[in-house]
Amino acid sequence: MNEKSGTQKSLLSYTGKGNHKNRFIDIKRERNKRAKYIVDVPKPFLKWAGGKRQLISQIDEYLPKTFNKYIEPFVGGGAIFFYLLPKQAILIDINKDLINSYNIIKNEVSALIELLKKHKNESEYFHQIRNIDRNPVVYNKWSDIEKASRNIFMNRCCFNGLYRVNSKGQFNVPFGKYKNPNFCDVENLKAVNKALKNVVLVSASFEKCLDFAEKGDFIYFDPPYVPISHSSNFTSYTTGNFSNNDQYRLFEVFKTLDNRGCKVMLSNSYSDFILKIYKNYKINVLQAMRVINSDGTKRGKIREVLITNAY
Ligand SMILES: C[S@@+](CC[C@H](N)C(=O)[O-])C[C@H]1O[C@@H](n2cnc3c(N)ncnc32)[C@H](O)[C@@H]1O
Repeated sequence: MNEKSGTQKSLLSYTGKGNHKNRFIDIKRERNKRAKYIVDVPKPFLKWAGGKRQLISQIDEYLPKTFNKYIEPFVGGGAIFFYLLPKQAILIDINKDLINSYNIIKNEVSALIELLKKHKNESEYFHQIRNIDRNPVVYNKWSDIEKASRNIFMNRCCFNGLYRVNSKGQFNVPFGKYKNPNFCDVENLKAVNKALKNVVLVSASFEKCLDFAEKGDFIYFDPPYVPISHSSNFTSYTTGNFSNNDQYRLFEVFKTLDNRGCKVMLSNSYSDFILKIYKNYKINVLQAMRVINSDGTKRGKIREVLITNAY
C-alpha cells in the first residue's frame, strides 16, 4: 500500500461515524499529516478482545486536545495508541507474550517477518505450534523472536483471535478455521515498527504507570471490564482475573494521577459499581456493539462508560 492509498483508506473508514464528523475529520487529517513520516498508517497487528477500534469515533470527542507523553497501562492491541500516534509513548501490559511481540516488532521486524512467512494455516500444524508450551524444556529454549512469531501466528489463526491460557499458562484456544488469515502483513508490521520507534514497552501491572506519569501527560486506562452479565465476564487475558479489588486499586491510581495534574481517561462497563466509584469524575456514556447472548451468536448495542478528569 502506498502512502496516498493508506491515508485515503483510513479517512474513508472513519468519516461519517458519530455526531462530530467535522472535528473528527480534522483530527484525522492532522493525524495523517504526522503519519506521512511513517509512510503507511499502522494499525493494530493483533486481534484483541475488548479492542477499541469500533469505538474510536465516539472516544475521539473526549480525547484531550494537547498533552505531553501518552501512557497506556492496559495496551492490548493498542487501538487508541495507533489512532493517536503520539510522539512519545509508554505502553504497558501484564501480558508478557504481548509485550514481547511489540518489542520484537520494534527491534527485529525483518527477522520476525521471515519466521512468520514459514507458518501454515492448517489445523494439525496450528495445534503442534500451540502445544509447544506444554513442554517447558523445549519452549524455554525458543528465542524471543520465535515466541513472537508463534504468538502473532496463533492470534490470527485461532478461534476469534482470543488470547486465553489455562492455569498453567498454556495457550488453549482452538484453531479458527479461517480461509485466508493474514498472519504475515508485511506492510503493516513495517509501519508498526516505525510507529514504535520512540515507544517504551513495559510488561508489568498497571501501577507501573506511576513511575512514568508527570503533569501534563495523558493516561488512558482500558482495563478488563467489571462483568455485567454472564456472557461478558471474559477477563482472562493472562492466568489471573481482574477482581473488584483490582478495580479499587485502579481507582487509587486514577486519583493519584489526577492529583498529579495528568489528563486521565478510563473505559469500563456501565455498571453500578463503576458509576459509584467514579461518581466525582466526568462520566460519559458510549454505545458499543457486543455479543449479548451466552452462545455468542447475537449482537446488540450495550452502554459503556468513558470517564475523564477535568481537562
Ligand atoms: C480490554 S483489554 C485492552 C484492549 C485495548 N485497549 C485495545 O484496544 O486492544 C485489557 C488489557 O489489560 C491487560 N491486563 C489485565 N490485567 C492487567 C494488569 N493488572 N495490569 C496491566 N495490564 C493488565 C490484558 O492483558 C489486556 O491486554
